[in-house]
Amino acid sequence: MITGTGITKTFKQRGNVLGHREVPALRGVDFEIAKGGSASFIGESGCGKTTLGRIIAGLETYDAGDIEIDGTPMSPLKHKHRQPHFRKIQMIHQDPYSALNPTRTIYQTLQAPLALRAGQTGRSKGWIDERAAEVLSLVGLDPGTVLSRYPHQLSGGMRQRVVIARALTVDPEMLVADEAVSMIDVSLRLGILALLKDLRERLGVSVLFITHDVATARYIGGDGELYVIYRGQVVERGPVDTIIADPVHPYTQSLLSAIPVLHGLELPGEEPVVPLESLAEGQSESGCLFAARCPFRGDGCTEERPLLRVTEGVPQEHACYYPQRRSVIARPMSEV
Ligand SMILES: Nc1ncnc2c1ncn2[C@@H]1O[C@H](COP(=O)(O)OP(=O)(O)OP(=O)(O)O)[C@@H](O)[C@H]1O
Ligand SMILES: [Mg+2]
Repeated sequence: MITGTGITKTFKQRGNVLGHREVPALRGVDFEIAKGGSASFIGESGCGKTTLGRIIAGLETYDAGDIEIDGTPMSPLKHKHRQPHFRKIQMIHQDPYSALNPTRTIYQTLQAPLALRAGQTGRSKGWIDERAAEVLSLVGLDPGTVLSRYPHQLSGGMRQRVVIARALTVDPEMLVADEAVSMIDVSLRLGILALLKDLRERLGVSVLFITHDVATARYIGGDGELYVIYRGQVVERGPVDTIIADPVHPYTQSLLSAIPVLHGLELPGEEPVVPLESLAEGQSESGCLFAARCPFRGDGCTEERPLLRVTEGVPQEHACYYPQRRSVIARPMSEV
């Protein structure tokens, strides 16, 4: 179980003559991912998804808040003592091309982390070879053909499988998949998603999926939690299917309204939500972060920021003073 409370992160960007510019990437995010469970973070570019994923994987520092891994708070621990905990959480990056060293064979790539583990646990060279073959089989690759190859001799999909196999060498409890299929050929994406789903079921690893594509969030984490992130704040949170069927935050509604309709098979939702303005730098920091773009903003929206909460009659948490159900997603024609 991994939980986060009040995770806050501001980047200081150097650049112009006026000196530093502060970029709030995360504004007090809470999350909770159970063992073997799944969660998806969605939101548009720059909302803080990768930053949060990297913090969860122990690859990025945070300014405030705390992370607990299996009940142990991470903030009071020194870097060295955090590492064994964060080993349980492995990140899979979006680009399987740059994630693998082109001068190493797949065997060499897998052998390095396995040798480290073998050294720590007193295992033999035979174990390393066996385990290398085993993790490749787990990701659906044939060790006999793949072990001696170099990354450039494999397809994008196979490379991403190798990246996942490498993550499995350390027996992780959680995989953080950051846009893990966005750079892979469309025809191969479903295979990788199915693999992640399968690893969840077979090995009990939790999967955290970071994406701006609602369909992948739905596929991978149908039974999991969806976190909709806007400008560093979670604005809606609940079971994936509940939110997709019945979003109440206008930002979530605008994300779902933007999914293309299958012409001839589906009809667009009856009340699509289109933001008033596009996302721009330097948008107001006071009140609701979405207020400037929100077609439904009302009294108080630009004064005090709504926090994530549950209100009567709405099953999911939301950060909106005027949560309202709207029919935004496409409906199959047969149901109309
Ligand atoms: N190392 C960094 N230094 C300075 N600013 C950063 C750094 N990393 C991220 N940021 C800023 O923090 C904000 C959140 O970035 P992040 O990469 O987490 O967004 P994202 O949701 O993953 O976006 P995308 O969908 O494009 O991957 C952005 O405004 C980004 O410019
Ligand atoms: Mg990102």
